[in-house]
Amino acid sequence: MRHRVTIENCNETYPCSEQQTLLQGMEQLGKRGIPVGCRGGGCGVCRVQVTSGNFLKAKMSRSVISEADESKRIVLACRCTPTSDLSISVVGKMEKALRAECQVEPEDEVSVAAVV
Ligand code: FES
Repeated sequence: MRHRVTIENCNETYPCSEQQTLLQGMEQLGKRGIPVGCRGGGCGVCRVQVTSGNFLKAKMSRSVISEADESKRIVLACRCTPTSDLSISVVGKMEKALRAECQVEPEDEVSVAAVV
């Protein structure tokens, strides 16, 4: 079964099956938003906070996800699978970089050539 995942920081949405982690689902579709690191639960760059919806999570190292984090529904996207539609927000040190990446670039200035 597939569920809709919304990354709130950049309004990205993608479908993710219950057999995939949130990170795998995003990468498989070539989407961006969740920072990608080791893909194995070791580096912590894929930290997200689940703001709505249900999920299952594999064991996560206390060095990257504390008990306090877990109580706030902060998980590693590479260790978490959806069981309903989810909204997530990227948190931690990569959040600022994501905000910058998701900003819309200003359109190039149009120059008008003088007609001779
Ligand atoms: S990508 Fe390294 S912990 Fe998820």
